[in-house]
Amino acid sequence: MPDAVLPKDFLWGFATASYQVEGASHEDGRADSIWDTFCRIPGKVADGGSGDVACDSYHRTQEDIALLKQYRAKAYRFSISWSRIIPLGGRSDPVNEKGLQHYVQFVDDLRAAGLEPVITLFHWDLPDELHKRYGGMLSKGEFVKDFENYARVMFKAMGSKVKFWITFNEPWCSSILGYSTGQFAPGRTSDRTKSSEGDGGREPWIVGHSFLLAHAAAVKAYRGDFKDKDGGKIGITLNGELLGDWTEPWDPNDPTDVEACDRKIEFAICWFGDPIYFGKYPDSMRKQLGDRLPEFTEEEAAQVKGSNDFYGMNHYCANYIKHKEGEADPEDYTGNVEILFDNKVGESIGSETQSVWLRPHPVGFRKLLKWLSDRYGGPTIYVTENGTSLKGENDLNFEQLLQDDFRCEYFRGYIGALVDAYNKDGIDIRGYMAWSLLDNFEWAEGYETRFGVTYVDYTGGQKRHPKKSAKVIGDIFESYIKKE
Ligand code: NOJ
Repeated sequence: MPDAVLPKDFLWGFATASYQVEGASHEDGRADSIWDTFCRIPGKVADGGSGDVACDSYHRTQEDIALLKQYRAKAYRFSISWSRIIPLGGRSDPVNEKGLQHYVQFVDDLRAAGLEPVITLFHWDLPDELHKRYGGMLSKGEFVKDFENYARVMFKAMGSKVKFWITFNEPWCSSILGYSTGQFAPGRTSDRTKSSEGDGGREPWIVGHSFLLAHAAAVKAYRGDFKDKDGGKIGITLNGELLGDWTEPWDPNDPTDVEACDRKIEFAICWFGDPIYFGKYPDSMRKQLGDRLPEFTEEEAAQVKGSNDFYGMNHYCANYIKHKEGEADPEDYTGNVEILFDNKVGESIGSETQSVWLRPHPVGFRKLLKWLSDRYGGPTIYVTENGTSLKGENDLNFEQLLQDDFRCEYFRGYIGALVDAYNKDGIDIRGYMAWSLLDNFEWAEGYETRFGVTYVDYTGGQKRHPKKSAKVIGDIFESYIKKE
Protein backbone atom coordinates (compact mmCIF):
# COMPACT_ATOMS: atom_id res chain seq x y z
CA MET A 1 0.00 0.00 0.00
CA PRO A 2 1.61 3.30 -1.03
CA ASP A 3 1.84 5.86 1.75
CA ALA A 4 0.42 8.65 -0.41
CA VAL A 5 -3.34 8.41 -0.53
CA LEU A 6 -6.30 9.96 -2.27
CA PRO A 7 -9.59 10.68 -0.44
CA LYS A 8 -12.33 8.09 -0.31
CA ASP A 9 -14.63 10.09 -2.59
CA PHE A 10 -11.99 10.68 -5.29
CA LEU A 11 -13.93 10.46 -8.56
CA TRP A 12 -12.20 8.40 -11.19
CA GLY A 13 -13.39 6.84 -14.38
CA PHE A 14 -13.20 7.06 -18.13
CA ALA A 15 -14.12 9.58 -20.81
CA THR A 16 -15.47 9.53 -24.37
CA ALA A 17 -17.20 11.99 -26.70
CA SER A 18 -20.39 11.64 -28.74
CA TYR A 19 -19.04 11.88 -32.29
CA GLN A 20 -16.11 9.61 -31.47
CA VAL A 21 -18.11 6.66 -30.13
CA GLU A 22 -21.85 6.87 -30.79
CA GLY A 23 -22.31 6.13 -34.49
CA ALA A 24 -26.02 6.05 -35.44
CA SER A 25 -25.27 9.31 -37.12
CA HIS A 26 -28.67 9.73 -38.72
CA GLU A 27 -30.95 7.75 -36.44
CA ASP A 28 -33.81 8.95 -34.30
CA GLY A 29 -33.79 12.38 -35.84
CA ARG A 30 -30.14 13.34 -35.49
CA ALA A 31 -28.94 15.80 -38.15
CA ASP A 32 -25.42 16.55 -39.39
CA SER A 33 -22.86 18.21 -37.21
CA ILE A 34 -19.87 20.05 -38.68
CA TRP A 35 -17.84 16.86 -38.18
CA ASP A 36 -20.25 14.82 -40.35
CA THR A 37 -19.82 17.24 -43.23
CA PHE A 38 -16.08 17.69 -42.66
CA CYS A 39 -15.44 13.94 -42.81
CA ARG A 40 -17.06 13.83 -46.23
CA ILE A 41 -14.36 16.09 -47.68
CA PRO A 42 -11.69 13.82 -49.19
CA GLY A 43 -8.33 14.07 -47.46
CA LYS A 44 -9.54 15.56 -44.20
CA VAL A 45 -9.42 12.31 -42.21
CA ALA A 46 -6.29 10.15 -42.51
CA ASP A 47 -8.06 6.88 -43.32
CA GLY A 48 -11.15 8.45 -44.84
CA GLY A 49 -13.18 7.42 -41.80
CA SER A 50 -16.05 9.19 -40.08
CA GLY A 51 -18.20 8.86 -36.98
CA ASP A 52 -21.07 7.30 -38.94
CA VAL A 53 -20.72 3.98 -37.12
CA ALA A 54 -17.77 4.56 -34.75
CA CYS A 55 -18.10 2.14 -31.79
CA ASP A 56 -21.87 1.97 -32.18
CA SER A 57 -22.19 3.09 -28.57
CA TYR A 58 -25.60 4.62 -29.29
CA HIS A 59 -26.93 1.05 -29.49
CA ARG A 60 -24.58 -0.43 -26.91
CA THR A 61 -25.10 1.63 -23.81
CA GLN A 62 -25.58 -1.49 -21.70
CA GLU A 63 -22.35 -3.04 -22.94
CA ASP A 64 -20.44 0.15 -22.20
CA ILE A 65 -21.92 0.40 -18.72
CA ALA A 66 -21.00 -3.23 -18.08
CA LEU A 67 -17.39 -2.45 -19.04
CA LEU A 68 -17.28 0.53 -16.69
CA LYS A 69 -18.51 -1.66 -13.86
CA GLN A 70 -16.07 -4.41 -14.70
CA TYR A 71 -13.23 -1.84 -14.61
CA ARG A 72 -14.41 -0.60 -11.17
CA ALA A 73 -14.90 2.98 -12.42
CA LYS A 74 -16.91 5.43 -10.34
CA ALA A 75 -17.71 7.93 -13.07
CA TYR A 76 -18.23 8.22 -16.80
CA ARG A 77 -17.59 11.41 -18.73
CA PHE A 78 -19.42 11.51 -22.05
CA SER A 79 -20.69 14.26 -24.30
CA ILE A 80 -24.08 15.10 -25.75
CA SER A 81 -24.55 15.41 -29.47
CA TRP A 82 -26.27 18.81 -29.78
CA SER A 83 -27.69 17.77 -33.16
CA ARG A 84 -29.52 14.83 -31.56
CA ILE A 85 -31.22 17.23 -29.12
CA ILE A 86 -31.96 20.13 -31.47
CA PRO A 87 -31.14 18.81 -34.94
CA LEU A 88 -31.04 22.28 -36.49
CA GLY A 89 -29.39 23.68 -33.39
CA GLY A 90 -31.13 27.04 -32.94
CA ARG A 91 -33.33 28.43 -30.20
CA SER A 92 -36.38 28.57 -32.48
CA ASP A 93 -35.80 25.07 -33.85
CA PRO A 94 -37.67 22.04 -32.50
CA VAL A 95 -36.32 19.78 -29.76
CA ASN A 96 -36.03 16.15 -30.80
CA GLU A 97 -37.62 14.17 -27.97
CA LYS A 98 -36.15 10.86 -29.14
CA GLY A 99 -32.63 12.20 -28.94
CA LEU A 100 -33.23 13.75 -25.56
CA GLN A 101 -34.82 10.57 -24.17
CA HIS A 102 -31.80 8.56 -25.27
CA TYR A 103 -29.58 10.53 -22.91
CA VAL A 104 -32.14 10.69 -20.10
CA GLN A 105 -32.32 6.91 -20.19
CA PHE A 106 -28.53 6.61 -20.36
CA VAL A 107 -28.11 8.82 -17.30
CA ASP A 108 -30.70 6.77 -15.42
CA ASP A 109 -28.91 3.57 -16.39
CA LEU A 110 -25.53 4.91 -15.32
CA ARG A 111 -26.90 6.00 -11.98
CA ALA A 112 -28.68 2.70 -11.47
CA ALA A 113 -25.31 1.03 -12.00
CA GLY A 114 -23.75 3.30 -9.36
CA LEU A 115 -21.82 5.42 -11.85
CA GLU A 116 -21.61 9.21 -11.66
CA PRO A 117 -22.41 10.87 -15.01
CA VAL A 118 -20.11 13.74 -16.01
CA ILE A 119 -21.62 15.51 -19.01
CA THR A 120 -19.83 17.58 -21.62
CA LEU A 121 -22.29 19.74 -23.53
CA PHE A 122 -20.02 20.49 -26.47
CA HIS A 123 -17.23 18.25 -27.66
CA TRP A 124 -16.69 19.90 -31.06
CA ASP A 125 -19.76 18.62 -32.94
CA LEU A 126 -21.64 21.85 -33.63
CA PRO A 127 -24.93 21.35 -35.53
CA ASP A 128 -23.98 21.92 -39.14
CA GLU A 129 -27.02 24.08 -39.75
CA LEU A 130 -25.73 26.72 -37.33
CA HIS A 131 -22.46 26.85 -39.22
CA LYS A 132 -24.33 27.33 -42.48
CA ARG A 133 -26.91 29.72 -41.02
CA TYR A 134 -24.60 32.25 -39.39
CA GLY A 135 -21.06 30.87 -39.24
CA GLY A 136 -21.43 29.14 -35.86
CA MET A 137 -19.03 30.59 -33.30
CA LEU A 138 -18.11 33.42 -35.69
CA SER A 139 -21.41 35.06 -34.83
CA LYS A 140 -21.12 35.65 -31.14
CA GLY A 141 -24.63 37.05 -30.61
CA GLU A 142 -26.40 34.14 -32.27
CA PHE A 143 -24.12 31.39 -30.99
CA VAL A 144 -24.28 32.48 -27.37
CA LYS A 145 -28.08 32.50 -27.39
CA ASP A 146 -28.37 29.18 -29.17
CA PHE A 147 -25.87 27.48 -26.90
CA GLU A 148 -27.60 28.81 -23.82
CA ASN A 149 -30.92 27.54 -25.13
CA TYR A 150 -29.48 24.06 -25.80
CA ALA A 151 -27.82 24.01 -22.39
CA ARG A 152 -31.13 24.94 -20.75
CA VAL A 153 -32.87 22.04 -22.51
CA MET A 154 -30.26 19.67 -21.06
CA PHE A 155 -30.29 21.18 -17.55
CA LYS A 156 -34.08 20.99 -17.48
CA ALA A 157 -34.12 17.36 -18.59
CA MET A 158 -31.47 16.13 -16.17
CA GLY A 159 -30.28 18.93 -13.90
CA SER A 160 -31.44 17.01 -10.85
CA LYS A 161 -29.70 13.79 -11.87
CA VAL A 162 -26.36 15.08 -13.11
CA LYS A 163 -23.94 16.71 -10.68
CA PHE A 164 -21.09 17.49 -13.06
CA TRP A 165 -21.43 19.63 -16.18
CA ILE A 166 -18.73 20.73 -18.59
CA THR A 167 -19.73 23.44 -21.04
CA PHE A 168 -16.94 23.16 -23.62
CA ASN A 169 -14.20 20.64 -24.25
CA GLU A 170 -10.84 22.07 -25.33
CA PRO A 171 -12.03 25.30 -26.97
CA TRP A 172 -8.39 25.79 -28.05
CA CYS A 173 -8.77 22.90 -30.50
CA SER A 174 -12.06 24.08 -31.96
CA SER A 175 -10.69 27.63 -32.34
CA ILE A 176 -7.17 26.99 -33.62
CA LEU A 177 -7.48 23.66 -35.42
CA GLY A 178 -10.93 24.54 -36.75
CA TYR A 179 -10.29 28.18 -37.74
CA SER A 180 -6.53 28.65 -38.11
CA THR A 181 -4.80 25.48 -39.28
CA GLY A 182 -7.94 23.92 -40.76
CA GLN A 183 -7.11 20.40 -39.53
CA PHE A 184 -10.42 20.11 -37.71
CA ALA A 185 -14.01 20.92 -38.65
CA PRO A 186 -15.07 23.25 -40.10
CA GLY A 187 -11.62 23.39 -41.70
CA ARG A 188 -11.25 27.15 -41.97
CA THR A 189 -7.81 28.68 -42.18
CA SER A 190 -8.33 32.30 -41.28
CA ASP A 191 -5.76 34.18 -43.33
CA ARG A 192 -3.40 31.25 -43.75
CA THR A 193 -4.56 30.57 -47.28
CA LYS A 194 -4.50 34.27 -48.22
CA SER A 195 -7.65 33.37 -50.12
CA SER A 196 -11.08 34.93 -49.92
CA GLU A 197 -11.36 33.40 -46.45
CA GLY A 198 -8.59 35.76 -45.40
CA ASP A 199 -9.66 37.82 -42.41
CA GLY A 200 -6.36 39.18 -41.19
CA GLY A 201 -5.99 36.30 -38.76
CA ARG A 202 -9.02 37.19 -36.66
CA GLU A 203 -11.29 34.17 -36.86
CA PRO A 204 -9.74 31.89 -34.22
CA TRP A 205 -9.78 34.69 -31.65
CA ILE A 206 -13.40 35.57 -32.43
CA VAL A 207 -14.36 31.92 -32.05
CA GLY A 208 -12.55 31.69 -28.69
CA HIS A 209 -14.35 34.82 -27.51
CA SER A 210 -17.75 33.33 -28.43
CA PHE A 211 -16.93 30.17 -26.48
CA LEU A 212 -16.15 32.20 -23.38
CA LEU A 213 -19.36 34.20 -23.60
CA ALA A 214 -21.43 31.09 -24.29
CA HIS A 215 -19.79 29.31 -21.37
CA ALA A 216 -20.61 32.24 -19.09
CA ALA A 217 -24.23 32.39 -20.32
CA ALA A 218 -24.77 28.67 -19.71
CA VAL A 219 -23.18 28.87 -16.27
CA LYS A 220 -25.38 31.81 -15.34
CA ALA A 221 -28.48 29.90 -16.48
CA TYR A 222 -27.41 26.80 -14.55
CA ARG A 223 -26.61 28.63 -11.35
CA GLY A 224 -29.75 30.76 -11.55
CA ASP A 225 -32.36 28.22 -12.55
CA PHE A 226 -31.15 24.65 -12.33
CA LYS A 227 -28.31 24.08 -9.91
CA ASP A 228 -29.30 21.27 -7.67
CA LYS A 229 -29.72 22.02 -3.99
CA ASP A 230 -27.33 19.15 -3.22
CA GLY A 231 -24.65 20.97 -5.14
CA GLY A 232 -24.18 20.42 -8.85
CA LYS A 233 -21.01 21.82 -10.38
CA ILE A 234 -20.25 23.36 -13.72
CA GLY A 235 -16.94 24.20 -15.40
CA ILE A 236 -14.98 24.22 -18.64
CA THR A 237 -12.31 21.78 -19.84
CA LEU A 238 -9.07 23.30 -21.13
CA ASN A 239 -5.97 21.88 -22.73
CA GLY A 240 -2.58 23.22 -23.74
CA GLU A 241 -1.43 23.81 -27.28
CA LEU A 242 -1.54 20.58 -29.27
CA LEU A 243 2.21 19.96 -29.23
CA GLY A 244 2.52 20.03 -25.47
CA ASP A 245 0.18 20.76 -22.60
CA TRP A 246 3.23 21.49 -20.49
CA THR A 247 6.40 23.13 -21.78
CA GLU A 248 10.02 22.88 -20.68
CA PRO A 249 12.55 25.53 -21.68
CA TRP A 250 15.08 24.20 -24.16
CA ASP A 251 17.78 26.02 -22.24
CA PRO A 252 16.75 26.37 -18.60
CA ASN A 253 19.56 28.90 -18.11
CA ASP A 254 18.28 31.15 -20.86
CA PRO A 255 15.68 33.50 -19.34
CA THR A 256 14.11 34.13 -22.76
CA ASP A 257 13.37 30.41 -23.14
CA VAL A 258 11.95 30.28 -19.63
CA GLU A 259 9.73 33.26 -20.37
CA ALA A 260 8.68 31.74 -23.70
CA CYS A 261 7.33 28.71 -21.82
CA ASP A 262 5.00 30.82 -19.71
CA ARG A 263 3.94 32.79 -22.76
CA LYS A 264 3.03 29.65 -24.64
CA ILE A 265 0.89 28.37 -21.77
CA GLU A 266 -0.79 31.78 -21.63
CA PHE A 267 -1.64 31.61 -25.35
CA ALA A 268 -3.10 28.13 -25.02
CA ILE A 269 -4.61 27.76 -21.58
CA CYS A 270 -4.85 31.25 -20.08
CA TRP A 271 -6.54 32.48 -23.27
CA PHE A 272 -9.63 30.90 -21.66
CA GLY A 273 -8.50 30.55 -18.05
CA ASP A 274 -7.65 34.20 -17.40
CA PRO A 275 -11.02 35.62 -18.50
CA ILE A 276 -12.73 32.98 -16.37
CA TYR A 277 -10.64 33.65 -13.27
CA PHE A 278 -9.61 37.30 -13.78
CA GLY A 279 -12.12 38.75 -16.28
CA LYS A 280 -9.46 39.65 -18.88
CA TYR A 281 -7.16 38.14 -21.50
CA PRO A 282 -3.46 37.67 -20.68
CA ASP A 283 -1.32 40.78 -21.32
CA SER A 284 1.03 38.73 -23.52
CA MET A 285 -1.87 37.98 -25.89
CA ARG A 286 -3.09 41.55 -26.03
CA LYS A 287 0.46 42.72 -26.73
CA GLN A 288 0.99 40.34 -29.64
CA LEU A 289 -2.51 40.27 -31.12
CA GLY A 290 -3.61 43.87 -30.57
CA ASP A 291 -7.13 44.51 -31.79
CA ARG A 292 -7.34 41.11 -33.45
CA LEU A 293 -8.16 39.82 -29.97
CA PRO A 294 -11.74 40.89 -29.19
CA GLU A 295 -12.51 43.02 -26.13
CA PHE A 296 -15.01 42.18 -23.40
CA THR A 297 -17.51 44.86 -22.44
CA GLU A 298 -17.53 45.51 -18.70
CA GLU A 299 -20.73 43.54 -18.35
CA GLU A 300 -19.35 40.59 -20.31
CA ALA A 301 -16.12 40.55 -18.33
CA ALA A 302 -18.12 40.52 -15.10
CA GLN A 303 -20.21 37.60 -16.34
CA VAL A 304 -17.23 35.56 -17.52
CA LYS A 305 -15.23 36.18 -14.36
CA GLY A 306 -15.95 33.57 -11.72
CA SER A 307 -17.80 31.26 -14.11
CA ASN A 308 -16.06 28.03 -13.06
CA ASP A 309 -17.08 25.83 -10.15
CA PHE A 310 -14.13 23.64 -11.08
CA TYR A 311 -11.30 23.62 -13.57
CA GLY A 312 -11.45 20.71 -16.04
CA MET A 313 -7.96 19.77 -17.16
CA ASN A 314 -7.14 17.63 -20.16
CA HIS A 315 -3.53 16.57 -20.17
CA TYR A 316 -1.49 14.37 -22.47
CA CYS A 317 2.07 15.51 -23.04
CA ALA A 318 4.92 18.02 -22.89
CA ASN A 319 7.52 19.50 -25.22
CA TYR A 320 10.57 21.73 -25.27
CA ILE A 321 10.17 25.39 -26.12
CA LYS A 322 12.58 27.96 -27.41
CA HIS A 323 12.12 31.70 -27.59
CA LYS A 324 11.73 33.05 -31.12
CA GLU A 325 13.36 36.34 -32.02
CA GLY A 326 11.59 39.03 -34.02
CA GLU A 327 8.05 40.08 -34.68
CA ALA A 328 5.32 37.41 -34.49
CA ASP A 329 3.78 36.24 -37.74
CA PRO A 330 0.10 37.32 -37.97
CA GLU A 331 -0.85 33.66 -38.13
CA ASP A 332 1.07 32.75 -34.99
CA TYR A 333 -1.02 31.26 -32.20
CA THR A 334 1.79 30.00 -29.96
CA GLY A 335 2.96 33.26 -28.40
CA ASN A 336 5.79 33.40 -30.92
CA VAL A 337 7.76 30.44 -29.65
CA GLU A 338 9.51 27.61 -31.36
CA ILE A 339 8.30 24.16 -30.40
CA LEU A 340 11.15 21.69 -30.55
CA PHE A 341 9.82 18.45 -31.67
CA ASP A 342 10.82 15.13 -33.15
CA ASN A 343 14.49 15.43 -32.29
CA LYS A 344 14.77 18.63 -34.27
CA VAL A 345 17.41 19.98 -31.96
CA GLY A 346 18.18 17.15 -29.64
CA GLU A 347 16.20 14.59 -27.81
CA SER A 348 12.42 14.92 -27.68
CA ILE A 349 10.92 15.05 -24.25
CA GLY A 350 9.29 11.62 -24.18
CA SER A 351 8.96 8.46 -26.23
CA GLU A 352 7.04 8.27 -29.51
CA THR A 353 3.38 7.32 -29.62
CA GLN A 354 1.00 6.75 -32.51
CA SER A 355 -0.03 10.41 -32.32
CA VAL A 356 2.89 12.49 -33.50
CA TRP A 357 2.02 15.24 -31.04
CA LEU A 358 1.95 13.10 -27.93
CA ARG A 359 5.14 12.83 -25.84
CA PRO A 360 4.51 11.40 -22.36
CA HIS A 361 6.11 13.30 -19.47
CA PRO A 362 4.36 12.78 -16.10
CA VAL A 363 6.65 15.28 -14.36
CA GLY A 364 5.23 17.99 -16.62
CA PHE A 365 1.70 17.03 -15.55
CA ARG A 366 2.57 17.62 -11.89
CA LYS A 367 4.30 20.88 -12.76
CA LEU A 368 1.31 22.15 -14.75
CA LEU A 369 -1.09 21.28 -11.94
CA LYS A 370 1.05 23.43 -9.65
CA TRP A 371 1.43 26.22 -12.24
CA LEU A 372 -2.33 26.46 -12.75
CA SER A 373 -3.12 26.16 -9.10
CA ASP A 374 -0.71 29.00 -8.30
CA ARG A 375 -2.05 31.21 -11.07
CA TYR A 376 -5.72 30.70 -10.29
CA GLY A 377 -5.64 30.65 -6.50
CA GLY A 378 -6.01 26.94 -5.91
CA PRO A 379 -9.16 26.05 -7.85
CA THR A 380 -10.74 22.63 -7.52
CA ILE A 381 -9.39 20.60 -10.42
CA TYR A 382 -10.85 17.58 -12.14
CA VAL A 383 -8.57 15.91 -14.66
CA THR A 384 -11.12 15.31 -17.39
CA GLU A 385 -8.81 13.47 -19.83
CA ASN A 386 -5.42 11.78 -19.77
CA GLY A 387 -4.25 8.89 -21.90
CA THR A 388 -2.05 7.73 -24.71
CA SER A 389 -1.97 6.00 -28.05
CA LEU A 390 0.57 3.32 -28.75
CA LYS A 391 2.85 3.49 -31.73
CA GLY A 392 2.06 0.77 -34.28
CA GLU A 393 -0.80 -0.66 -32.20
CA ASN A 394 -2.67 -1.55 -35.37
CA ASP A 395 0.19 -3.78 -36.56
CA LEU A 396 0.15 -5.97 -33.46
CA ASN A 397 -1.54 -9.34 -33.26
CA PHE A 398 -4.57 -9.80 -31.05
CA GLU A 399 -2.72 -11.06 -27.93
CA GLN A 400 -0.16 -8.27 -28.18
CA LEU A 401 -2.88 -5.68 -28.59
CA LEU A 402 -4.45 -6.62 -25.32
CA GLN A 403 -1.09 -6.61 -23.54
CA ASP A 404 -0.69 -2.83 -23.60
CA ASP A 405 2.16 -2.43 -21.11
CA PHE A 406 3.12 0.93 -22.60
CA ARG A 407 -0.30 2.33 -21.70
CA CYS A 408 -0.11 0.74 -18.22
CA GLU A 409 3.23 2.50 -17.64
CA TYR A 410 1.76 5.76 -18.89
CA PHE A 411 -1.10 5.56 -16.38
CA ARG A 412 1.23 4.51 -13.54
CA GLY A 413 3.44 7.51 -14.22
CA TYR A 414 0.65 10.03 -14.58
CA ILE A 415 -1.52 8.85 -11.71
CA GLY A 416 1.61 8.71 -9.52
CA ALA A 417 2.33 12.33 -10.48
CA LEU A 418 -1.27 13.25 -9.66
CA VAL A 419 -0.94 11.65 -6.22
CA ASP A 420 2.26 13.64 -5.59
CA ALA A 421 0.56 16.83 -6.72
CA TYR A 422 -2.29 16.12 -4.30
CA ASN A 423 -0.20 15.03 -1.33
CA LYS A 424 3.06 16.89 -1.67
CA ASP A 425 2.02 20.08 -3.49
CA GLY A 426 -1.41 20.39 -1.88
CA ILE A 427 -3.29 20.73 -5.18
CA ASP A 428 -7.07 20.39 -4.86
CA ILE A 429 -7.61 17.55 -7.33
CA ARG A 430 -10.84 15.67 -6.91
CA GLY A 431 -11.14 13.47 -9.97
CA TYR A 432 -9.50 11.83 -12.94
CA MET A 433 -10.99 10.48 -16.18
CA ALA A 434 -8.81 8.33 -18.39
CA TRP A 435 -9.04 8.80 -22.14
CA SER A 436 -10.56 6.58 -23.24
CA LEU A 437 -13.01 3.85 -22.29
CA LEU A 438 -12.93 2.61 -25.88
CA ASP A 439 -10.77 2.82 -28.96
CA ASN A 440 -12.65 5.33 -31.06
CA PHE A 441 -12.71 7.81 -33.93
CA GLU A 442 -9.61 9.94 -33.36
CA TRP A 443 -10.72 12.94 -35.43
CA ALA A 444 -8.35 13.76 -38.30
CA GLU A 445 -6.27 10.68 -37.39
CA GLY A 446 -9.28 8.45 -38.05
CA TYR A 447 -9.31 4.91 -36.64
CA GLU A 448 -5.59 4.25 -37.02
CA THR A 449 -4.91 5.76 -33.64
CA ARG A 450 -6.29 3.90 -30.65
CA PHE A 451 -6.58 5.48 -27.22
CA GLY A 452 -8.85 2.94 -25.54
CA VAL A 453 -8.34 0.69 -22.57
CA THR A 454 -10.78 -1.47 -24.50
CA TYR A 455 -9.93 -2.80 -27.93
CA VAL A 456 -12.84 -2.31 -30.31
CA ASP A 457 -12.99 -4.70 -33.22
CA TYR A 458 -14.47 -2.38 -35.82
CA THR A 459 -14.74 -5.05 -38.48
CA GLY A 460 -15.72 -7.82 -36.08
CA GLY A 461 -19.14 -6.61 -35.02
CA GLN A 462 -17.77 -3.83 -32.76
CA LYS A 463 -16.88 -6.42 -30.17
CA ARG A 464 -15.16 -4.95 -27.10
CA HIS A 465 -12.05 -6.64 -25.63
CA PRO A 466 -10.54 -5.27 -22.41
CA LYS A 467 -6.82 -4.48 -22.67
CA LYS A 468 -4.50 -5.02 -19.73
CA SER A 469 -4.57 -1.29 -18.90
CA ALA A 470 -8.31 -1.50 -18.14
CA LYS A 471 -7.55 -3.65 -15.12
CA VAL A 472 -4.28 -1.97 -14.20
CA ILE A 473 -5.86 1.47 -13.90
CA GLY A 474 -8.40 0.12 -11.40
CA ASP A 475 -5.59 -1.54 -9.43
CA ILE A 476 -3.65 1.73 -9.37
CA PHE A 477 -6.60 3.70 -8.03
CA GLU A 478 -7.53 1.04 -5.51
CA SER A 479 -4.01 1.15 -4.16
CA TYR A 480 -4.16 4.93 -3.70
CA ILE A 481 -7.73 5.59 -2.56
CA LYS A 482 -8.44 5.47 1.17
CA LYS A 483 -10.90 2.78 2.17
CA GLU A 484 -12.23 4.59 5.23
C1 NOJ B 1 -8.53 15.44 -26.48
C2 NOJ B 1 -9.91 15.42 -27.07
O1 NOJ B 1 -10.81 15.98 -26.17
C3 NOJ B 1 -10.36 14.03 -27.48
O2 NOJ B 1 -11.52 14.15 -28.22
C4 NOJ B 1 -9.24 13.34 -28.24
O3 NOJ B 1 -9.63 12.10 -28.75
C5 NOJ B 1 -8.06 13.18 -27.31
N1 NOJ B 1 -7.59 14.50 -26.97
C6 NOJ B 1 -6.89 12.40 -27.90
O4 NOJ B 1 -6.36 13.10 -28.95
